[in-house]
Amino acid sequence: MIQKAIIPAAGYGIRNLPITKAIPKELFPIGNRPAIDYVVKEAIDAGITDILIILSRNKTEIMNYFDRSMELEAHLRTIHKESMLPIIAPAKVNIQYIRQYEALGLGHAVSLGQSFAANEPFAVMLPDQINLHQNSLLLPLIRNYEKHRTNVIGLQSVDPKLLSQYGVASAVQVQRRIYEVASIVEKPAYDPPSQLAVMGRYIVEPGIFELLKTTKPGIGGEIQLTDALNQMGMTRKAIGYVYKERWYDTSIEHDYLKIQQRAYQLHKKRKQ
Ligand code: UTP
Repeated sequence: MIQKAIIPAAGYGIRNLPITKAIPKELFPIGNRPAIDYVVKEAIDAGITDILIILSRNKTEIMNYFDRSMELEAHLRTIHKESMLPIIAPAKVNIQYIRQYEALGLGHAVSLGQSFAANEPFAVMLPDQINLHQNSLLLPLIRNYEKHRTNVIGLQSVDPKLLSQYGVASAVQVQRRIYEVASIVEKPAYDPPSQLAVMGRYIVEPGIFELLKTTKPGIGGEIQLTDALNQMGMTRKAIGYVYKERWYDTSIEHDYLKIQQRAYQLHKKRKQ
């Protein structure tokens, strides 16, 4: 059973400057909740009990968001708004934090979770890749891990014009929605190996940590998780699970506007 998840949130958010100078992109609002809150809920709904969030110096607001605010609770009681207490209650999951001193890449961020993972397989969840589904979309990856006992990667078919912004899988279909992944090409400028983009959800075996220790900086000068996954894939191929559900990448303006719209529609529908 997968019980642990690592959520890397220590990047600079260069694509979203200047707002990310002051507001971490993981806290971008979607309705009245920050993006990372959707990811934590998705983890809890999939049975995750322990989360490690990787932070950097200017991301302390993320800790504050998940902390209990005694002062606000007392104030809500004073003004007889007790009905609002549940919406500010901390998530029912054990959250730990660690700082990444320098944004050396996603692979480096994940490597900081070695003692947290304690030699167990774990989930990696990128907090800028969000879906709005009622059911946790981490769950199918966990089920596939239990079946195949190898790394599992969430994929989605995306518009070919957008593939250069993603990791793209070179993969062969083995069942409906299930692929064997030979490798992942990070942000291919031309000739993407398929239309299947990596969707920021992974189940990873703890063997990744030894490989990350020697993974050299790759594309963008960053230590890439993809490079270590590709190396693992040489001995045992990863499984790709293709989501048909729509994912949104909050770092891409067009997607961010779309998810805002969708969250608003869902909110209106629930109120009807
Ligand atoms: P991204 O590449 O999307 O985030 O990494 P970024 O680096 O913040 O954004 P750009 O590319 O500069 O615009 C995906 C996730 O991994 C985290 C980011 O915070 C983001 O949530 N990350 C990335 C780290 O935690 N550490 C890193 O060194 C790099």
